[in-house]
Amino acid sequence: MDQTQTQKPDVVPDTASAYLDPHYWDQRFAQEEHYEWFKEYSHFRHLIIQYVKPNSSVLEIGCGNSQLCEELYRDGITELTCIDLSSVAVDKMKQRLFSKGYKGIKVLEADMLDLPFDNECFDVVIEKGTMDVLFVDSGDPWNPEPVTVSKVMAMLNDVHRVLKPGGIFISITFGQPHFRRRFFNAPTFTWSIEWKTFGDGFHYFFYILQKGQRSLDKDEDTKKIDLPPISLFHEELDNEDYLFRSNLDEL
Ligand SMILES: C[S@@+](CC[C@H](N)C(=O)[O-])C[C@H]1O[C@@H](n2cnc3c(N)ncnc32)[C@H](O)[C@@H]1O
Repeated sequence: MDQTQTQKPDVVPDTASAYLDPHYWDQRFAQEEHYEWFKEYSHFRHLIIQYVKPNSSVLEIGCGNSQLCEELYRDGITELTCIDLSSVAVDKMKQRLFSKGYKGIKVLEADMLDLPFDNECFDVVIEKGTMDVLFVDSGDPWNPEPVTVSKVMAMLNDVHRVLKPGGIFISITFGQPHFRRRFFNAPTFTWSIEWKTFGDGFHYFFYILQKGQRSLDKDEDTKKIDLPPISLFHEELDNEDYLFRSNLDEL
């Protein structure tokens, strides 16, 4: 959680598996006005503006009660659509954006596993911490449960489908490349894969997948990855992000 926010402990579940329950999110969003997973926009803005242009049509998946779409709008990226599975999140986001005058941002209740959009209609699809929800009960991160694999592939297939040729999928996550590459690199996808990191103690990952730009390099999968050292500050160990990621990585 970003340091500028006030944590409300009563919304933090006892176990990470609650994040897979749509009722959990509805109840949470009924009580909570704003929570920014991982980091707020200022921490990765320098990366976003390299890839998202003001005239890009952008889909944000799993907006929750984040301020990401407002920040993008303030940066001149105004063709924005946000979705979330939680009707409470969607209603509150609509009210918030309307009251602040961001009337052009569309907000829809939708499932990222079955996106209600035509093929090739967005320049950019972005998610922050939303794909991570699918991993909370994944078991061994090196060998995830079949149900996890099928949900993640359903999501990625739909993201790939709705991207225009040359379009970009941006995934902001704590999921490390050795756990994400097997999904991103599935043979069905035509996107190239690049990633950067941001953050101070723990490094978050910023993946950039560009449709139609896949490398023909057969060694791509086996290339060595140099990861930043993982060190957690005390406050990071105490906050909710840690509960969220504890099932995933060998921290
Ligand atoms: C960890 S929160 C991240 C929220 C926000 N992106 C942020 O950065 O603060 C995950 C969000 O994904 C939403 N979500 C979970 N499953 C979803 C699905 N199948 N389709 C769309 N949204 C989903 C939840 O309702 C919640 O808003």
